[in-house]
Amino acid sequence: MFKSGMPVYGKDFIDRKQHLIKFNTFIKNNQHIMIKAPRRYGKTSLVVHLFETHKYNKIYIDIKRVNSLESLAKQIINEAYKYAGINGIIQKAKDSISHLFKQLKTTIKIDIEIAELTIETLERNEKKQIDEVEFFLYAIELVEEIAKQKNLNIKFAFDEFQDILLITDNKILDKLRSVIQHHQNVTYIFLGSIESIMNKIFANKTSPFFHFARVIELDGLDINELKSFCKVFFKSKKIIYDEFLFEIIAYLEGHPYYTMKTLQSVYYKSLEQSSQDITKQDCITALNEAFFETKSYLEEIIEKIKQKKYQYKVLWNLANEIKDANIDSLTLYKTYKSLQNLGYITKVDRGEYCISDIFLKILLQQNGDRQMFNERIEFKGLMLV
Ligand SMILES: Nc1ncnc2c1ncn2[C@@H]1O[C@H](COP(=O)(O)OP(=O)(O)O)[C@@H](O)[C@H]1O
Ligand SMILES: [Mg+2]
Repeated sequence: MFKSGMPVYGKDFIDRKQHLIKFNTFIKNNQHIMIKAPRRYGKTSLVVHLFETHKYNKIYIDIKRVNSLESLAKQIINEAYKYAGINGIIQKAKDSISHLFKQLKTTIKIDIEIAELTIETLERNEKKQIDEVEFFLYAIELVEEIAKQKNLNIKFAFDEFQDILLITDNKILDKLRSVIQHHQNVTYIFLGSIESIMNKIFANKTSPFFHFARVIELDGLDINELKSFCKVFFKSKKIIYDEFLFEIIAYLEGHPYYTMKTLQSVYYKSLEQSSQDITKQDCITALNEAFFETKSYLEEIIEKIKQKKYQYKVLWNLANEIKDANIDSLTLYKTYKSLQNLGYITKVDRGEYCISDIFLKILLQQNGDRQMFNERIEFKGLMLV
């Protein structure tokens, strides 16, 4: 199946053959890693797929979904105690400490002193006798302690790690690093989608995380892998398709999310129709649908870029392959750098860049809104007739 909108794993997971080997070698050998890629490039899928395939002991936390360091700490404590045989420890402590104590005495699979300290810490937190940074660092340390007691190596993934700076200030990075650098029984996986912040955290020489984790960059899916996957899939469903489908796949440059969205539409179309055959027109319609579903999000990006003097101009020029003599080379260089840091463009060669998001590029290539009102998009470079 072609799934979109959720992380994919197992038989839905396509390609990443090289990445999976490399990634797994690191993880297996307890090497911390950082995976960097624009949003919807398949970071979460890669981690979920790997965790599922190898049945690692794992903790997965999406920082985008937490709104304070305190709730992040609680989530970590909950996850850590699962490895000590206790589910939902935070709720249980809230309901009744004495009940929890009784349960711990009979079921806990680690030294009871560790649990006693946890309860004490939770109580101090409730009474606001501990600040949230300390509470968070306690939770992090606890994972190591439980892993050690159970003689496990826990793979600990922080998804959208850059968002930690939305719930606390960047002093946390130093503190976090100084705690986790001593950990022997936890392997950290940081995933991030805001290039500039992830670079600051992991690639800046002055950052506490510099050299801490191996950096893996994800780009698009392999076009040939995608094609083979489609061939096998449609054959198994006995669906005949126009070869134009492959042109669209190549055109989407392996963008995982856009490709899956388009393929999914194509497939659903064939299910709706009495004749299951997929025509060239079906492919074009599916591509249009995928584009229009993304359009408003991309327009927001463009609005944001327009607020910076040169960013929009430079990006537009790049999309339309125009060299602008009015922008001096230093300004151009600086603008490229900032667009790259924001994740909108990728360096392909010295001084040469391309737009990372194919639909963003297409949107910038449209001649005004009139064309788009008619929902007639020009997919430059794709032979539609
Ligand atoms: N390896 C893959 N195989 C098939 N589809 C994928 C793959 N990676 C990503 N996708 C598609 O892209 C979408 C976004 O993937 P996700 O892992 O959530 O990206 P990220 O975490 O980088 O934002 C998924 O819902 C799926 O449709
Ligand atoms: Mg993700």
